[in-house]
Amino acid sequence: MVCALSSVEVCVESLDAFIDSLPKAELHLHLEGTLEPELAFELAARNGVKLRFPSVEALRQAYSFADLQSFLDVYYRVAAVLVTERDFRDLAAAYVARAAADGVKHAEVFFDPQTHTVRGVSMGTIVRGLQAGLTDAGAAHRVTTRLILCLLRHLPEDEALQTIDEAAPFGDAITAIGLDSSEVGHPPSKFARAFARARALGWHAVAHAGEEGPPAYVWEALEILRAERIDHGVRALEDSALVERLRRGRVPLTVCPLSNVKLRVFDRLEAHNLKGLLDQGLVVTINSDDPAYFGGYVGENYRRVAEALRLSRSEIAQLARNSFAASFLPDAEKRRWMAGIDRLEG
Ligand code: ADE
Ligand code: ZN
Repeated sequence: MVCALSSVEVCVESLDAFIDSLPKAELHLHLEGTLEPELAFELAARNGVKLRFPSVEALRQAYSFADLQSFLDVYYRVAAVLVTERDFRDLAAAYVARAAADGVKHAEVFFDPQTHTVRGVSMGTIVRGLQAGLTDAGAAHRVTTRLILCLLRHLPEDEALQTIDEAAPFGDAITAIGLDSSEVGHPPSKFARAFARARALGWHAVAHAGEEGPPAYVWEALEILRAERIDHGVRALEDSALVERLRRGRVPLTVCPLSNVKLRVFDRLEAHNLKGLLDQGLVVTINSDDPAYFGGYVGENYRRVAEALRLSRSEIAQLARNSFAASFLPDAEKRRWMAGIDRLEG
């Protein structure tokens, strides 16, 4: 590799190669958000579902968002092409293959069952399909996976409770409960009973908070839902007591840089607070959220944020180590991956 290095210049090419070589865990990824337009059109044709876009190109061009809600409006509409067990299997398998190409060794992925059950798709169809895709592709690409069931926070808590009851028979396939969708106006406290029920099933708990919502929502996710990880959490930096709570408790934040720019949480990558969060000693991880919509899978998130924020090799290695530390893998497996990263860092 040829790299013109001065004392202050970062050699972008060699940094990219270092990023590619790093083992990574991805912890904030919505499977429905990996539905690429090509597959969406294929599934629409297979299932006789009408997509209100004339072509793959027109759909891609609709991917310009003013905020979280404008994205969700498109995301839920496109997700309607997922109908059969095979569709869910194909979706999950395609993600695993794509993630493996970026050095992902372990993925803890979200799915939104209520998006599908409302259309008459059964919980069994969804979970069996996703599980088959994750298992088959995981074996082929040597990627381990876990499933996280996300509750849609814009819907009533009674529907969340019903969703958990429907999923309970498939409980062994599910590692954690999560909370996503429209954040502002739907605080975590709305789901106190649902999270208690999920925890009673032995599931871990995570929650989206502090993406568009205030630091108070992150507090509620920690104190009321007992979330073990905060998804996004970038607004935590506005509250120094909260930063201290996250730092002391080593509560991971699953940050999604390209998503935050696409949904206008930050107006450009250079203005992202990821380095600020790292500098506060927080367990920050890098993830892709909904990569089919936001312009890049996890490798692209690492590369673009490393360049925009001028991250050092050791900061990048720390982010990759954090991704395993923050996972729900057994401690011995976490240590094995982290030791591998230490060796690569040199
Ligand atoms: N569902 C899919 N992506 C999401 C995000 N970034 N925030 C909240 N809900 C989501
Ligand atoms: Zn998300």
